Amino acid sequence: MKNSNTPKLTIVGAGPGDVELITLKAIKALERADVVLYDALVNEELLQYATQAEIIFVGKRFGCHAYSQDQINELIVSMAKRFGHVVRLKGGDPFVFGRGSEEIEYAEKFDLETAIVPGISSALGVPASNGISLTQRKIAESFWVITGTTSDHKLSKDVALASQSSATVVILMGMNKLDEIILIYQNNRTDDLPVAIIQNGTKDTEKKVVGTISSIAKLVEEHQLSSPAIIVIGEVVRNASKLTAYFQEENLEDEFIFQNLNVMS
Ligand SMILES: C[S@@+](CC[C@H](N)C(=O)[O-])C[C@H]1O[C@@H](n2cnc3c(N)ncnc32)[C@H](O)[C@@H]1O
Repeated sequence: MKNSNTPKLTIVGAGPGDVELITLKAIKALERADVVLYDALVNEELLQYATQAEIIFVGKRFGCHAYSQDQINELIVSMAKRFGHVVRLKGGDPFVFGRGSEEIEYAEKFDLETAIVPGISSALGVPASNGISLTQRKIAESFWVITGTTSDHKLSKDVALASQSSATVVILMGMNKLDEIILIYQNNRTDDLPVAIIQNGTKDTEKKVVGTISSIAKLVEEHQLSSPAIIVIGEVVRNASKLTAYFQEENLEDEFIFQNLNVMS
């Protein structure tokens, strides 16, 4: 292993899963890495670029963390002091529910040089690759990206706030709270608001269901969707160019009726 001597941490976003959805800057950082610490959501094919590095998995598998966050912080510092350039490779964008800022802050306390390479977050890349436009003229003027699981394991209170607006809502880490989310929308909005749930977005294993607030739970159960998945709620889902196969349009009192057709993988 090469030692570049300057202890450095580069936090790198690996994108949502498709190996081609990574930046050139990220690839260059991997090529210059002495050590790579990577998470479970990272596509392991990307590790081929780290030809000179020691590679360590620090993510969560089968529900178990390989390392605690404190251990990861310490590993970053000790590896950088020993070998030089540590690349911390994270799924999506490191600053979207990725704890990237905490790792930077810790490394700087130990005088490591730091750099950040943004990535395409699943919150943006997965809807886009399915033709869901998070904003759309006259339909959605904003979007919220919300966690379904806060640090105290609760659904974020922001879901209730967002459900009272016409914004598109993208929920990450929300599959275990789907019933709670549905109830909030039933109380604050309408049963026929469109919902898309996409698991393993942009990967070969991508799976999705599209329905409405009233039908989505049954679809998830029928087609056995689970984490990692994003939940997209809002009228923009109805217009998604790549999801038309999921809907059957019927003209009834000038409204679209969702038929919740099927699942595609
Ligand atoms: C800890 S968060 C990390 C998010 C990541 N930093 C990002 O910007 O995409 C993990 C959650 O992101 C979502 N996620 C990440 N990659 C995904 C993918 N390819 N398809 C669907 N959801 C994904 C899931 O909700 C998953 O539980």
